[in-house]
Amino acid sequence: MTTDIQLTPQGTLKHFLTPEGLSASLLTAILDKADTFFTHHGTQRKIKAMPLLKDKTVVNLFFENSTRTRTTFELAAKHLGAEVINMNIATSATSKGESLLDTIRNLESMFVDAFVVRHAVSGAAHFIAQQTAPHISVINAGDGQHAHPTQAMLDMFTIRQHKKDFTSLRVAIVGDILHSRVARSEIHALKILGVKEVRVIAPKTLLPSKIDTLGVSVSHDMAQGLEDIDVVIMLRLQKERMTSALLPSEREYFHCFGLTPERLHCAKPDAIVMHPGPINRGVEIASEVADGAQSVILQQVSNGVAVRMAVMAMTLCA
Ligand code: CP
Repeated sequence: MTTDIQLTPQGTLKHFLTPEGLSASLLTAILDKADTFFTHHGTQRKIKAMPLLKDKTVVNLFFENSTRTRTTFELAAKHLGAEVINMNIATSATSKGESLLDTIRNLESMFVDAFVVRHAVSGAAHFIAQQTAPHISVINAGDGQHAHPTQAMLDMFTIRQHKKDFTSLRVAIVGDILHSRVARSEIHALKILGVKEVRVIAPKTLLPSKIDTLGVSVSHDMAQGLEDIDVVIMLRLQKERMTSALLPSEREYFHCFGLTPERLHCAKPDAIVMHPGPINRGVEIASEVADGAQSVILQQVSNGVAVRMAVMAMTLCA
């Protein structure tokens, strides 16, 4: 999938579809921009509203369910002063057989400026970016198993908050890599930002066949795989994308790959624990870890607002 479509001739961000192929300086610019949207009241962090998009209209087009991504995109657009339309796909003309392209053509006739798209089909956001009117920006909010670029960037932002220097880090991504758009976007972003190692830890049945071509190391054992790790990114089992039985049972999966307090001791003592959500307690992560001192899971959600503000400001003001 070509990524050139993401950039203007001047090299600024027009669409944000995947981190793949983007430069470290552009990804760092997103993180730096997100930093500008935070203000501090004592120890409390707050979002600083800035009306950078006050004449713009953003349409949230979510063909798949979402709690975190849809809500934080809406908040982000509102903090930037944009008009936000949340399309209710269940009650839209999609249910009467209207094609994706016809839906886009009709919405772009309403003088909108951006589509934030989540779709079950890999490549859907890319397709819309290719087809839509030239003044419209498309931001991928998750397409099939392909990419979830703003999740990757809010995770990079969270890692930078805690670890500062990417180049010294060993990062483990644990779980259902095979079906995970988050894993793919994280791997691309982490490699672009120059981390020392990305290690994937998973059963063989939950790894893509050519995972090594992404420049990661592979482990099938939690205790060994977590050794020397600075950042642990847990993933849920994406059962909605599994077409056959890939695991004996969730209980067995937790027994072998669940992140428990004992297993977390195998990582560095100051390792942080991340998860894009939704979490499945007792399946991929124990509650004691999800709610424990090393967990930054809810910080990831908070950072999603500022990072999505940054992406919208950079694409819509390009
Ligand atoms: N992380 C994530 O994409 O969560 P939602 O499905 O709730 O948006």
